[in-house]
Amino acid sequence: MAVIAGWRTPFERSGTLLENLTAVELGGIAVKELVARANLSGSEIDELIYGTVIPSVSRPNIAREVVFEAALPKSIPASSVIMACASSNRAITDAAERIALGLADVVVAGGAESLSDVPVLFSREFARRLMRLSRAKNASQKAKALSGFRPGELSPNPPAIAEFTTGLSMGESAEKMAKENGISREAQDEFALASHRKAAAGWDNGILPPEVVPVPVPPKFEQMATTDNNIRRDSSLEQLAKLPPVFDKKFGSVTAGNSSPLTDGASAILLMSEERAKADGRRILAFIRSWAYSGVDPGEQLLQGPAYAAPIALDRAGLKLSDIGRVEMHEAFAAQVLSNLQAFASEKFAREKLGRQSALGEIDPAILNLYGGSIAIGHPFGATGARLVTTLSNELVRSGVQFGLLTVCAAGALGHAMVLERGE
Ligand SMILES: CC(C)(COP(=O)(O)OP(=O)(O)OC[C@H]1O[C@@H](n2cnc3c(N)ncnc32)[C@H](O)[C@@H]1OP(=O)(O)O)[C@@H](O)C(=O)NCCC(=O)NCCS
Repeated sequence: MAVIAGWRTPFERSGTLLENLTAVELGGIAVKELVARANLSGSEIDELIYGTVIPSVSRPNIAREVVFEAALPKSIPASSVIMACASSNRAITDAAERIALGLADVVVAGGAESLSDVPVLFSREFARRLMRLSRAKNASQKAKALSGFRPGELSPNPPAIAEFTTGLSMGESAEKMAKENGISREAQDEFALASHRKAAAGWDNGILPPEVVPVPVPPKFEQMATTDNNIRRDSSLEQLAKLPPVFDKKFGSVTAGNSSPLTDGASAILLMSEERAKADGRRILAFIRSWAYSGVDPGEQLLQGPAYAAPIALDRAGLKLSDIGRVEMHEAFAAQVLSNLQAFASEKFAREKLGRQSALGEIDPAILNLYGGSIAIGHPFGATGARLVTTLSNELVRSGVQFGLLTVCAAGALGHAMVLERGE
């Protein structure tokens, strides 16, 4: 399975430049640009698979809606996947499976999220009342449906970024991991600062701009969204140290500065069978060598999934961590990345949690998230996975390094890891 190309919209803090675009519209923009920039004809696409975490109530199959938004042929079958923050990774591996099975040669995959446009639901009590009202055939049935109405029923129900099983938010779960793994506030802030510095350098040195398509900003379309607007060039350790903990105000260490922000954006990737890519004379950025998913008990360490998935992905690729020259880890929180890195290097974790004799190994910071990560760049849940695949594929070509590893942690205590091999 060959990665041919990938692009994304700029990732913008929610409530800012992209707030008037829905996830479907953002996805449409990313996919339309991908198709145009990759010189692909819509009729060549066998399938479109797309991810989002908080689907639209009126357009829940985002993949099919993206086909329409991107003005692609309506004959393209399209399916949507939800796997929390690994949604676009799942879309990509579903696409890879279709190609491996010989069911498709050309698949567009990716994901989008608008955290500026989340559905806010009525209470179940009020929704049931509305249903009864819509079924009422006469005035007396209508009156009955409305009887006993209490204004409290109208209080809105926004989606929570929290585990249903434990009630803990992602941030509270990151706090738990920081405490249980002894990850200090200083280490988290240093990691976050490095993420911003590397992302800023990635933009300044011309590495990230070619991966990003500018988006005209509605409603006036006079302005263009061109860069990731969460990157803080002026941040410092002193400023970060002053920020109050958000998720455990008294004893916590996870702050707005060392967390990924709520973000809007979309990404898209073109995958092809190797045979088809070669027959069409296409440049192959990378080959997908292997992948793995993991799941643990959400009551344990919720965001430790990469430490479980990475060893399996490496085994499946027949590689060791020492064979890997570049690593892209999704940064939900600095505490989460640092906890995962600790687990990668821990003999105890390997023995007790993985049933392995030895630790996976230490990741050299010099090969990790070279152009920043989700803390600085932002994290539109459904879009991040495809950003990682694009950046890592391009980086393998640029650096000449043969193998890269990427990992994603996700709500539900899920994890993902993928091994890519340079294509050229
Ligand atoms: C952590 C979180 C609650 C913070 O939200 P917020 O309060 O809107 O964050 P802000 O950007 O306004 O930052 C708060 C303050 O920190 C400051 N700040 C944030 N990052 C900073 C940095 N790197 N350097 C310096 N200051 C920083 C801001 O300037 C702001 O200061 P102000 O209050 O003086 O304006 C929100 O980003 C969040 O929920 N993140 C986690 C999302 C999540 O769970 N994702 C799932 C992951 S799997």
